Amino acid sequence: MADSFAVKLEEKKYYPDPQLKAGAWVPDYTQAYQEFLRDPEGFWDGIARDLSWFEPWDRVLEWKYPYARWFVNGKLNITYNCLDRHVAGGLKDKPAIIWHGESGENRVLTYEDLYREVMRFANGLLSLGIRKGDRVCIYMPLVPEQMIAMLACARIGAVHSVVFGGFGPEALSMRINDAEAKVLITADVGYRRGKTVPLREIALEAIARTPSIERVVVLRRASPAVELDPVRDVDYAELMARSAPECPLEVMDAEDPLFILYTSGSTGAPKGIVHTCGGYAVGTYYTTKCVFDIKENDIYWCTADTGWITGHSYIVYGPLAVGTTVVIAEGTPDYPDPGIYWRIIQDLGVTIFYTAPTAIRMFMRYGEGWPKKYDLSSLRVLGSVGEPLNPEAFEWFYHVIGGGRCPIVDTWWQTETGMHMVTTMIGEPMKPGFAGKPIPGAVVDVVNRHGDPVAPGTGGFLVIKEPWPAMLRTVHRNDERYRVYWNTIPGCYTTGDLAVKDEEGYIMVLGRADDLIVVAGHNIGTAEVESALVSHDAVAEAAVIGKPDPLKGNVIKAFVTLCVGVNPGDGLTDELARHVRKTLGAIAVPAEIEYVDRLPKTRSGKIMRRVLKARELGMDPGDISTLEE
Ligand code: PRX
Repeated sequence: MADSFAVKLEEKKYYPDPQLKAGAWVPDYTQAYQEFLRDPEGFWDGIARDLSWFEPWDRVLEWKYPYARWFVNGKLNITYNCLDRHVAGGLKDKPAIIWHGESGENRVLTYEDLYREVMRFANGLLSLGIRKGDRVCIYMPLVPEQMIAMLACARIGAVHSVVFGGFGPEALSMRINDAEAKVLITADVGYRRGKTVPLREIALEAIARTPSIERVVVLRRASPAVELDPVRDVDYAELMARSAPECPLEVMDAEDPLFILYTSGSTGAPKGIVHTCGGYAVGTYYTTKCVFDIKENDIYWCTADTGWITGHSYIVYGPLAVGTTVVIAEGTPDYPDPGIYWRIIQDLGVTIFYTAPTAIRMFMRYGEGWPKKYDLSSLRVLGSVGEPLNPEAFEWFYHVIGGGRCPIVDTWWQTETGMHMVTTMIGEPMKPGFAGKPIPGAVVDVVNRHGDPVAPGTGGFLVIKEPWPAMLRTVHRNDERYRVYWNTIPGCYTTGDLAVKDEEGYIMVLGRADDLIVVAGHNIGTAEVESALVSHDAVAEAAVIGKPDPLKGNVIKAFVTLCVGVNPGDGLTDELARHVRKTLGAIAVPAEIEYVDRLPKTRSGKIMRRVLKARELGMDPGDISTLEE
């Protein structure tokens, strides 16, 4: 792409109720940002002191570009901050998790309940031979046991790698192998639209190819109960029954790894993003408390799956560190009917509702009738994440769901950032289409490829200019790929997104610059889908692009060249779709497959996706001087 480009900005502002601002944890954004800039380390030092540490840090930050160490030599355990201190501090009977199942049942775990379950499961993991530093893979539906498994790992210092329950066997085995996980924690089934998702079958197919897996813990939900392998498998309930509800925690160094989470990359395999204990705890605690402005009596619902970073940071670690009540719901937003989310908000008295633009656009399609049937007056704050919240969706969310009363925090961040980086803090004027400004604590800008800031109204690359506590520390077993984030644009962390700032410093995120396709809020790597297609016997080559879609943000379109002698008749398209679903999961299935004679390539043989995209969308392909012919 060019260095920068002009963007037409429409400006509309919503001014929130001044009372909101007065009562907020951060009552004055500008002042808080100035305070942060005057003394960044002092700013983070103050926040870190809200958490409980076993030993204090010597230095807030040690920065040797591009490597950061935060809270150097500080010792803590994130689960102490999420559980022990709340149980000891008067919150033991407060609901920690309210789980809503697809068939309508609610299950409540208080902080005390969660604390005990986590310690039991931590003992269970110890009994299976898991020790500090070992990797554990979690492949589960959205149930409290998924959170319990994560917290139990963190308690004993094991590094969890959660794989979203919608992924197929290929994606799962690749992630297990890269992390060399010793134990897999899974379930027999998940529930989705009244049907079962066969997690057990997928897991069995995956572990046939994962030599590192020694034991498999299976949460059995369905009847009749699935059969277990007597040597390898352990029943979740039996493991819990034989484990004591007291488990001492591991004292962790601030820089010890907490988890690995895979995110799609542009070339080759997904990247195992590594987050550490101290900085991540501080960053997620602070942003959960201040961006959502969480108060004692809030009921907070994040509709993400725990298998994504949003779930890690804003279902599990941040909200529990703050000591709030977290709602989770298994299933989809339109089952049993498109009123389900509004019913949950009404029935549970949800006050803070954090969801994704793709869900909002889906609800818009179903119309105002559904939310109008329910009492949504408990809502206080709305949040959005995952993709740009387009102005139409903002307006609808603001008026129809928020009743024109609730501020919307459109939070821009990434798996790599671990925590929110850009949003409109509570009480600040909101501009539809703009995520907002860098939060106090983040230095974010829009620059050209040389790292120079571009003028307001001019598009460029969204970058982060200073280290932040919850930043990724490396890419698991591939530090070279970590350095790419910091050496693409001089002096900056490159987010891979394009953005534009207006005169007042509000940032509008325009989307990915390159390699990822965001489908319904999920990041899909072009390379993963292409390699899944090519793994089919009939396919010679494949190139996939994202095509704008009013509902999902983007859908995947694949261009495929077939092996000689194969013709596309006879249901090949359906077969390829099935093949991708089986290897990567339903979210990666192309919406369209077009058969072509050849793909546009550079002289060095790289497929030029942007040429395909330009043709597809009727746009100028830009510089095609490197095109082969
Ligand atoms: O392109 C941006 C988009 O999602 C990417 C990060 O995806 P992932 O690592 O899966 O994390 C998603 C949850 C944090 C970003 O590079 N994105 C995320 N939030 C927003 C967004 N785009 C626009 N506005 C947002 N609020």
